[in-house]
Amino acid sequence: MKKRKLIQSTVAHFQKLFHSEPEALFLSPGRINIIGEHVDYNDGFVLPAAINKYFCFAISKTNSNECTLIAKDLNEAYKFDLEEELKPVDKMWVNYILGVIQQLKERGCKIRGLQIVFSSTIPIGAGLSSSAALECGIAYAFNDLFELGLSKETIALIGQKSEHTFVGVICGIMDQFASVFGQKNKVIKLDCTTLQYDYHPASFKNYSLLLLDSNVKHTHLTSGYNTRREEVEYGLTLIKAYFPKVHSFRDCTLEMVEQLKETLGDIIYRRCLFVVKEIQRVQDAVEALEASDFNQLGQLMFQTHQGLSKEYEVSCDELDFLVESVQNVPTVLGARMMGGGFGGCSINLVQKGTENELIASITEHYRDTFGIELKAYKIKITEGSHRYYDKIAK
Ligand code: GLA
Repeated sequence: MKKRKLIQSTVAHFQKLFHSEPEALFLSPGRINIIGEHVDYNDGFVLPAAINKYFCFAISKTNSNECTLIAKDLNEAYKFDLEEELKPVDKMWVNYILGVIQQLKERGCKIRGLQIVFSSTIPIGAGLSSSAALECGIAYAFNDLFELGLSKETIALIGQKSEHTFVGVICGIMDQFASVFGQKNKVIKLDCTTLQYDYHPASFKNYSLLLLDSNVKHTHLTSGYNTRREEVEYGLTLIKAYFPKVHSFRDCTLEMVEQLKETLGDIIYRRCLFVVKEIQRVQDAVEALEASDFNQLGQLMFQTHQGLSKEYEVSCDELDFLVESVQNVPTVLGARMMGGGFGGCSINLVQKGTENELIASITEHYRDTFGIELKAYKIKITEGSHRYYDKIAK
């Protein structure tokens, strides 16, 4: 569904339910990540960008403390009073929002009730960060409507904290940061230690980015995401004990990890190996991107996939199949699973004009092998969470 249609249908739903026009509209995008996976919580660098798949929010103030949330796509509603103590409930989508509001309350923000209708074009559980887009869109809207004066960084951090406290996924900062800080045709190089960032042109010349959605759904509450975090935290503690100069994975070398192979044990050794290599790969990828060396960028993407699959073990058969299927296709320079893993999309760097042919051939092989229908998304890189001011077309 196109952006305009998403906006129109969200507004129409608001009008139908509340018999009035929404006061304001907000859009909050999903994200891709070119490279730098599972390193945002390991003091690494990441290279994400916001994409043209969004949550759209149609909102009015209620002049009371009552909030009404309407999830149009799920056909569900939830009402609560801002004065009440907020606690996680048994509807996951509500928790993303309550977690954000709880953060605003804890920061002493003066907020009042809202009527919120939302709908989205970001596929859920596809590794495109629909949850971050939801959290950040809500935080952005409250900030705008009640003039809270929160910085973009604070909005991203509030989104992340909501996920930690009300959802239970101890995620890094990449997804929320990308959703809020996205810029048209730019990728963000984010230093996850300092949260310093700069933008690099997302210019791939004769190549385009294509997402292949395995249609294997996942939630990081049960996927193994939190376990990976525990494993690498433990690994780092051991490394620090032997090398007191190491403060984070950023200071850690491959030699150190190799030297401690026995002590770390097979699993923790492979997890740490991946992190150290991936932190370096992102820096190499930025150089390759700046030099328009897309062959090199593609190779790094393949290497990342190999590491995610064999060392970090967050891939799955379906994602491995999608990447292996394009490995020897001359029109594909690079591919890898994207996001937290255990399902979701692969991101592919594909020669422009050859995408449809590729989609057709992989779709068929994928169906034959797994009996699952593949989905493909040709994405554009867009701006982050924002208020939408245009007149709504009827
Ligand atoms: C999920 C998390 C992010 C990040 C990625 C893996 O999307 O929300 O913080 O860790 O996985 O790179």
